[in-house]
Order: sequence, then structure tokens, then C-alpha cells
Amino acid sequence: MAKLKTTFFCQNCGSQYSKWQGQCTSCKEWNTITEEVIQKPEKSDWKTPENARKRVSKPLKINEIDTSKEARLNTLDDEFNRVLGGGLVPGSLTLLGGEPGIGKSTLLLQISLQLPYKTLYVSGEESQKQIKMRAERINPTSSNCYILTETKTQHIFKQIEELVPDVVIIDSIQTLHSDYIESSSGSISQIKECTTELIKFAKETATPVVLIGHITKDGHIAGPKILEHMVDTVLQFEGDRNHVFRILRANKNRFGSTNELGIYEMQGSGLREVSNPSEILISQKDEELSGHAIAATLEGIRPLMIEVQALVSTAVYGTPQRSATGFNAKRLNMLLAVLEKRAGFRLGAKDVFLNITGGITVDDPAIDLAVVAAILSSNEDAAVQKDFCFAAEVGLSGEIRPVQRVEQRILEAEKLGFSTIFVSKYNKIALKNTTIKIQLISKIEDLIGIVV
Ligand code: TYD
Ligand code: MG
Repeated sequence: MAKLKTTFFCQNCGSQYSKWQGQCTSCKEWNTITEEVIQKPEKSDWKTPENARKRVSKPLKINEIDTSKEARLNTLDDEFNRVLGGGLVPGSLTLLGGEPGIGKSTLLLQISLQLPYKTLYVSGEESQKQIKMRAERINPTSSNCYILTETKTQHIFKQIEELVPDVVIIDSIQTLHSDYIESSSGSISQIKECTTELIKFAKETATPVVLIGHITKDGHIAGPKILEHMVDTVLQFEGDRNHVFRILRANKNRFGSTNELGIYEMQGSGLREVSNPSEILISQKDEELSGHAIAATLEGIRPLMIEVQALVSTAVYGTPQRSATGFNAKRLNMLLAVLEKRAGFRLGAKDVFLNITGGITVDDPAIDLAVVAAILSSNEDAAVQKDFCFAAEVGLSGEIRPVQRVEQRILEAEKLGFSTIFVSKYNKIALKNTTIKIQLISKIEDLIGIVV
């Protein structure tokens, strides 16, 4: 047995030191360096040495490289496929991160159950019975999905060699541990080692591997940042736990764009794909209420109509309250200042509450105009016509600024039956034959009179 060797790792950035110190010289964090026992073997391979294939890479001309085998595996989940860029790439490593309880295990189990391929779902967190119970809620009939509860990578690879699955799912990378390293599961060296072994396995057998990763309290995937560099795709599953919507987005994708977005709804029987999110995010109502306005936003490259609700009321305390849910509070303050200074609304003594329905967070600046319209509408207690919608940014001098891909927003609004969309006069619009009325405005005062 090799001599035990200890090293010091920064738990924040993964830097390695030969002795302990208070501050990490690389990321400048304090008290993040901990000692870990490592016992580097001569060889850490996913296969037992005697049957490991000898493979030597040779340089190839780029046009001689065969990509025909890279056909993607269709997961039969349109949202998941779209975010991946068209399906799972053979030999790729995908990392799915998200807060506890958001539905990572549910999503991947659901996909495993409907995959038309032999799938191995390895869980280090739940027992086979627990997984079976969950599977019965989602889809009681599936014959291609195997469940393994194991945390030691060497045992997992042994099972893989016998089963030869087409897809491997690991729930979660933080629970795995490799015999080659002595430190406990979830430590930086274990995560690094287990991921290296999985990458080797994935690349050598062209099997796609999907890992679940826990995230820390500040929203990063737990473990070294290196983990995100090692894998091919990093997906983030997010949403408000108290709301039913979940958003899947790609933070990194070696095989596709990171602009795509998948939307799911958590139901009693698993996650449902939401293929037309706009219809759900707009509350269905017959009467017109003040303080509501619809914004035509883009989430990634997908147009999305969302409802903005504002409540303006006389401040009870000396300092007026400003609160925004799903919208940047600083931006709200800026818009209020613009309304006060450029359009003469006395909002200084008013409480202003803003809410984006559906529990989603929007950072598209094109939502500004809808926010302003909702605030004005609530302030005057006059409803915005319910078939109006908005897509423009508001500048500091009250000018209405153009937004990107305005045509896409207009077409989405038209599809959903809106009669008028308000956009900036400075947007170049090359659309013809639209039935929706495109109202061009250039400054914030133009809204007054039209909207309220
Ligand atoms: P889970 O997949 O265990 O989350 P994670 O792996 O990200 O920690 O998701 C758990 C939540 O989802 C749990 O609070 C219960 C809920 N849920 C449903 O609402 N419907 C379902 O069909 C399932 C399986 C879970
Ligand atoms: Mg889980």
C-alpha cells in the first residue's frame, strides 16, 4: 500500500497547498483550506487493469474525423432535448445542478423511465424501494430502467460492465467515493477523482453520463469549480420551490447553445413539460384590473409573455416601502425615479410593490415598459386594456429604448391574440402583414393617455 499522503485544498476554489494557511492565496477566501488524505494509486482507471483496453490516441486530420456516430440520443422529453441542443451526445458528461427539493432526482428518474434505451440509474441518496415508490408516481410502466444503490465507483463500474447500459445517471456526484482516495465522500479530491473516472468511462464507451450535483447556499455547484470545467454540459434546474414552475437552463454547453430554456410544471405525478408557457404565466381573467400589464419578454431565445403586477398605495410610514419579487429592486427604484422626474408622478410618498407572476425572475430589460405601465395603472387605479402588451426598455431620461429581437416578441403577442403591442419608435421592424397593431412610442409621456 502506498504511503499515506496529506494535502491541503481550498474548499472554495480547489487550489492545492502543501501546508495549512488561513487565507487561500488564489481566491482570497479565509478559513477555506482543509486537510485531506490522498493516497494516489499508480493508476486510477474505471476498468480493472487486466481487461482495460489499450487505446492510444493518434492525431487525425479534422476532415477525417468521423462524426456520424455522434447521433444524439433522443430523451423523449422535448424540453430536456432542447436545452441539451437536441438530445444526449454519446460519451458526454452532463451535470445537473439545483437546490435541494427542486426536483432534480424527479426529472432524471422521469427521463430514465421514458428512455427507449437501457438506462442505469445509480442512487447514493435513496434506497431502491424509495426510488420505486417515486417511479410509481411518475410512470408505473417501464422495462428499460435499472436502479442501483451504490456509492463506490469501483462497484458501480463492475455493474456497468455486466449490464452494459446505454445511458448512466448518477444521483449524486457528491455521494460517490472512489477506493483510490481515502478522504470522505463529497470532499474535493473525491469529487475530482470520481468525475475523472466517469469521464474516462464515458469517453471510452461513448455512453452519455448525467450527474446530479448539489449546490451550496450561494448557488454554486458544491465542490471545486473544476467540476464545471471537466464536464461537457452544465444544466441548472431552478425555480421557486413554492411555485409549480421549474426552469431548466444550460450554463455551459459544448454541444449547443446556452440560450435555450426548458419549462416544467411540478405536478403530483412528476414534472409536466410546458410547451406553451405564455398561456400559463398570464392569469386568466375576464374583468380588467388596475395594476396589471403584460410584457413580451425573451427567456433565452424563447418568447414569453409574462404578467407584471404593481400595487401603489399611500405610504403608512415615513419611508415609503419598495418591494419587488422577480424583478431587480434597484431597477424598480430607477424606473420610479424616472416616472417622478420626467413624467411628474409624485411617487415619493407612495409604497410600491411589484410582482412577476408565476414565481419566475426576469432580467430582460424589455420588461421595463410593462413595469411602468403597471405602476401608472395602479397609481391612477385605471386598468390597462387587457389585450395590450409591452416590449421596450426605459432609459434614464424617460426615453423608450429599442430591444433585441422585437419581431419575435411581436409574433408571439400576435399568436396569443393581443390587439396592440407597444414598442420603441427606434426599433427597426421588418414585419409585414401582421394583424396586431404595433404602437411606436418614443418617451414615457406617450404612455399617459393611451394606457391610463
Ligand atoms: P426531488 O426530485 O427529490 O428533488 P431533488 O432531487 O432536487 O432534491 O424533488 C422533490 C420534490 O418534488 C418533493 O418536495 C416532492 C415533489 N414531487 C412532486 O410534487 N410530485 C412528484 O410526482 C414527485 C416525484 C415529487
Ligand atoms: Mg435528489
